[in-house]
Amino acid sequence: MEKSALPQVVVTRRPPGKAVEMLGEVASVWAFPKNRVISSSELADRARRADGLYCMLTDRIDRRFLENAPRLRAISQMAVGVDNIDLAAATARGIPVGNTPDVLTETTADTAFGLLIAAARRFREGYEEVVDGSWGEWDPMGLVGQDISGTTLGIVGLGRIGQAIARRAVGFGMRILYTKRSRDHQVEKELGVEYRTLSELLGEADHVVVVTSLHAGTHHLIDREALAMMKPTATLVNAARGPVVDTEALVEALTDRTIGAAGLDVTDPEPIPADHPLVALPNCFIVPHIGSASVRTRIRMAERAAQNLVAALENRKMPYCANPEVYDIGP
Ligand code: DGY
Repeated sequence: MEKSALPQVVVTRRPPGKAVEMLGEVASVWAFPKNRVISSSELADRARRADGLYCMLTDRIDRRFLENAPRLRAISQMAVGVDNIDLAAATARGIPVGNTPDVLTETTADTAFGLLIAAARRFREGYEEVVDGSWGEWDPMGLVGQDISGTTLGIVGLGRIGQAIARRAVGFGMRILYTKRSRDHQVEKELGVEYRTLSELLGEADHVVVVTSLHAGTHHLIDREALAMMKPTATLVNAARGPVVDTEALVEALTDRTIGAAGLDVTDPEPIPADHPLVALPNCFIVPHIGSASVRTRIRMAERAAQNLVAALENRKMPYCANPEVYDIGP
């Protein structure tokens, strides 16, 4: 096919693996050449002529962006979360939005569990003692934290990643509580997890891991009131999206020891400024949104996102689509 007759694809940041080559088999591809987030004005300009968009969770794909991209017929994001994309507006335009579930489940669950252990067992304070030279004699009560094994874990959002965290918790001999929009009797049987309302879970759990997706109903789900329901020794892990937790309320809760510790893969704002009060708190362990950051997983995510876009450009259904209803209503 003539190059000009091929669909035009814009890639907002160069993905790993063979993703760009895969797209190149069916489209004429322009990939942002720099290793940083593309500015919204440059992206808008490029998207004006694009049939397909391959994007990252750092790109804002809102209604206005879509209005300025009249030819766009498919969006594929290299992430499972698509809260940066106005799904309703895309659906209304008949644009399928691809995402990358499954391939990142285990890696993200590893990170969440790692954060739980690091925060509850005070790894940050220990590490700081080592590097600043204040590591003194062994102390019977030095840097004692809270146990993970044999305690009760509360999982907020028992989707794929929540279930993978539950499987790890089984190995740690934990009792597992969960909350989600609708009760899942099948998973309860398979994993031995117990359903609780959010407030019951917060009051009963020794540690709480949040892995729910971000939408209007989960924005600040963990607010001042929710934090006050937790045990003063409890650890809160956020491996979802920053705005699911109210940052100001979290700073207060960690400062006043309303809760014991926090382990965060995501923050609000993100990136969090180095001089933000949350960063200074010794009982807060933060990593920079690296939940899915293993070499193998990032390559799989990149190629799954390419697979989605290729399918859409070939007028097939995307294998992993965040707004599958688009196929019922059509353009
Ligand atoms: C996702 O895919 O949504 C994750 O946040 C990336 O780590």
